[in-house]
Amino acid sequence: MTPNVPLIAVERVGKRYPSSSGPVEAIADVSLTVGEGEFCTIIGPSGCGKSTLLGMLAGLVPCDSGRVLVAGAPVTGPDPRRVATVFQDPGLFPWRTALENVEFGLELQGVPRDRRRQVATDLLAPLGLARFADKYPRELSGGMRQRVAIGRALAIDTAILLMDEPFGALDEQTRVLMGEWLLDIWRRTRKTVVFVTHSLHEALALSSRVIVMTARPGRIKSVLELPQPYPRAMESADLVSLRAKLWGEIREESMRSMER
Ligand SMILES: Nc1ncnc2c1ncn2[C@@H]1O[C@H](COP(=O)(O)OP(=O)(O)O)[C@@H](O)[C@H]1O
Ligand SMILES: [Mg+2]
Repeated sequence: MTPNVPLIAVERVGKRYPSSSGPVEAIADVSLTVGEGEFCTIIGPSGCGKSTLLGMLAGLVPCDSGRVLVAGAPVTGPDPRRVATVFQDPGLFPWRTALENVEFGLELQGVPRDRRRQVATDLLAPLGLARFADKYPRELSGGMRQRVAIGRALAIDTAILLMDEPFGALDEQTRVLMGEWLLDIWRRTRKTVVFVTHSLHEALALSSRVIVMTARPGRIKSVLELPQPYPRAMESADLVSLRAKLWGEIREESMRSMER
């Protein structure tokens, strides 16, 4: 890739959705770039357009204005060779085992059976699922199911991983552990991650950059660079003060979105 071209460039994008009471302006004039290997987190009140923005990066939501570029080329639709997506709902196939779910994307890509079985089997150990290869989703805990979903996204080995509140349905302890686990995966694979969360802890523990969005229509309110090394000492003075700063900004926007 040419240096100087950011892996992801969002240029002045906007989106309105039709609704019975007239168009809803979901996001307005959002521009940002994400460099290769970054862990970029988007945080903001409910309904501010985070999923819309992520959907635009994934090529699932068309922009009304502006454009999204990946490696310099405009995004016109989903590109499963480049971008994998994980949502809050793991969306597993109940009739497939953990291993078969992880294999799914490779199957779509026409990877031969032996090869995809090998890739998926190799992934299960770092996913902490080596002993659960033959279990069905109903036999797994929520955290395990979400790891299978992440495994399915990792198996296709894209440069970009988009995650929309992937741990949002998990209890707090599981979330913290899953965050540590994801951090480990990210540091080993050096993927570019764009991560949406409501959790200040996740944002501060995981990200190299945090983007705070305003209440709807979502715009970029502020950008926080986090050069602190990993794993982060969350009780250290600088992280505690960053947390207070971030909370101040999110609180202001959440109040605005509650007042409408
Ligand atoms: N497909 C859709 N049709 C109509 N309105 C939508 C659609 N998707 C999202 N919206 C509206 O756009 C706004 C932003 O939604 P969303 O991107 O899901 O926000 P977030 O992920 O930050 O909660 C919300 O007001 C939501 O109701
Ligand atoms: Mg959302």
